[in-house]
Amino acid sequence: MLSIEDNNLLTHVGPGTPMGEYLRRYWVPTLLSEEVPEPDCPPVRVTILGESLIAFRDTNGVVGLLDNYCPHRRASLFFGRNEECGLRCVYHGWKFDAAGNCVDMPSEPAESNFKDKVKIVAYPTQEAGGVVWAYMGPSDHVPQMPDLGWASCPDENRFLTKCVQECNWLQALEGGIDSSHISFLHSSLKPVDYTLTVSNTETQGTALQDKSPRFVLDETDYGLTIGARRTTPDGRYYWRITPWMLPYGMIVPAEEDAVMTGNMYVPADDNTAMVFRASWHPSRPLTVAERTEYETSGYFHEAVMPVTYRAYANKSNDYLIDRAKQRTVSYSGIKGIQAQDMAVIEGMGTISDRSKEHLGTSDSAIIGARRRLLREVADFQEGIEPYAPQHGELYRIRSAALEAPQDIPLREVAAGSMVL
Ligand code: FES
Ligand SMILES: [Fe+2]
Repeated sequence: MLSIEDNNLLTHVGPGTPMGEYLRRYWVPTLLSEEVPEPDCPPVRVTILGESLIAFRDTNGVVGLLDNYCPHRRASLFFGRNEECGLRCVYHGWKFDAAGNCVDMPSEPAESNFKDKVKIVAYPTQEAGGVVWAYMGPSDHVPQMPDLGWASCPDENRFLTKCVQECNWLQALEGGIDSSHISFLHSSLKPVDYTLTVSNTETQGTALQDKSPRFVLDETDYGLTIGARRTTPDGRYYWRITPWMLPYGMIVPAEEDAVMTGNMYVPADDNTAMVFRASWHPSRPLTVAERTEYETSGYFHEAVMPVTYRAYANKSNDYLIDRAKQRTVSYSGIKGIQAQDMAVIEGMGTISDRSKEHLGTSDSAIIGARRRLLREVADFQEGIEPYAPQHGELYRIRSAALEAPQDIPLREVAAGSMVL
């Protein structure tokens, strides 16, 4: 459990809040590059860290990220005209470039220099891995880009989606690092239906047999190494190792040659998260079968509606739960790993009241992540700058799933298996 005060501290992300300011020290994933596919294409709305913004790709291909509200009379720039290296407000024609300068003010006399005095809030962006990242912090603390495997690999090695979730970012993240729920929420009553098909089913089988793994944590500069340990029939340990990467990244455990899935649970506002999900292979293009599976099955990547990026199976239709199948086919009766996760995560309410939880030993990763975040924010409030945003190389790691002799500690197992 968490005090109401700490719960508020971790979940409130708007400008001026302790967590909001801490998160503004990192590059933030804001939208998919494909949402602004070409120069001078239509602008799109983006809400990030509680701020209403408009993204547009200018004539030179640069993605601008501006305040939604025109500084003249506050019209929304969503309706703007994207033309000749700037976004023009349709109300009175003021035009802004990607850096936030007002470059034209046709409603004022030609001799006026008023436009030189007006700026709009604009955040620097860069693109990596099919994602537009923004930096929303002070200009004297620009961080390094995290050197994530899925962001730096060739495009053909990656399948990327975005899904909006109706809950706070921390709730979505905690769902991602809650490794013990796979034995329940994602389990099947039959061997073939609703199980993993692309990744290793043998692994899944081992994981399902022992429903109460021991959790071992290792604090690192990037966040936490989370080891879930099960004893195999021949007396070794089977480890599933999840890196939680500050502040909101993680990679699902995967065996050495398997396709991995990495998630980022980004705060849109206090009540909404955006999940950027990348399935990728570090050293080869995805096969047609893998790509087709991700595009069509809904198991690993939820099917989302155009424009809104909300899942078809969602809160308003109870995630299409099938009670008959829940009796005979699957534990949850909900189809697809992501829909199953969303049902339980969103079902907690948009900001879960963590003061009413009862956490056990299998929740140690969640407890560890909260403690770390509270410490990071407390240090930050004391004036200590966070370490991870200035060290992009920390993020060049992978998850792991492997057997090892019992006498090898997690740190050593991780050192040998999490190198990308
Ligand atoms: S409100 Fe935008 S130009 Fe007037
Ligand atoms: Fe899950």
